[in-house]
Amino acid sequence: MTKSVLDRDIERVLLTQEEIQRVTTRIAAQIDRDFRSSKRLLLLGILKGSVVFMGDLMKKVTVPVEIDFMKVSSYSDGTESSGRINILLDLNRADLTECDIIIVEDIIDSGRTLSYLVEYLRLGGAKSVHTCTLLDKPSRRVVAFTPDYVGYEIPDEFVVGYGLDYAEQYRTLPYIGILKPDVYKNK
Ligand code: IMP
Ligand code: MG
Repeated sequence: MTKSVLDRDIERVLLTQEEIQRVTTRIAAQIDRDFRSSKRLLLLGILKGSVVFMGDLMKKVTVPVEIDFMKVSSYSDGTESSGRINILLDLNRADLTECDIIIVEDIIDSGRTLSYLVEYLRLGGAKSVHTCTLLDKPSRRVVAFTPDYVGYEIPDEFVVGYGLDYAEQYRTLPYIGILKPDVYKNK
């Protein structure tokens, strides 16, 4: 079943549904192994891009886990980061000092969002803070940042689907595809 209206704007499929499932299984197994003795593990999804990945990952993790969400904004014009991070939905937990947090992100680009959030949560007193991203574009880093769990390293291409958007569209595609540049150029 395809979503032909959206499929038309995709230049090439980068990761199929099957490839994504394999990688979420691998990351869930790593989390199970690393957090076996955690007393309070929290998967913290960053809205909105991480929701689909979060949904698949949480089903595959077998250690007891809570979920929560934060919402931040960093993009100003669709495909280029503004450099400023705004917290639009904060994490309000009285038990933060007892939480081992794994931040769940869709993609790391400049590195600004995750480096800011890790610092923010550590300053807030979290017991530990780790990071997990489905996709990583290491060639685009502005701020040095290395995530703890990575699905795939990808080249410098603008990708959509599986939660990732361009101008709030394409999140519902079940695979990850490279968006045709003429969709966002000449805008
Ligand atoms: P960073 O702060 O520059 O690392 O940006 C991370 C955020 O930028 C991600 O959570 C995405 O929302 C967005 N982003 C970066 N690259 C892409 C892309 O190729 N497609 C869709 N969103 C992206
Ligand atoms: Mg986004």
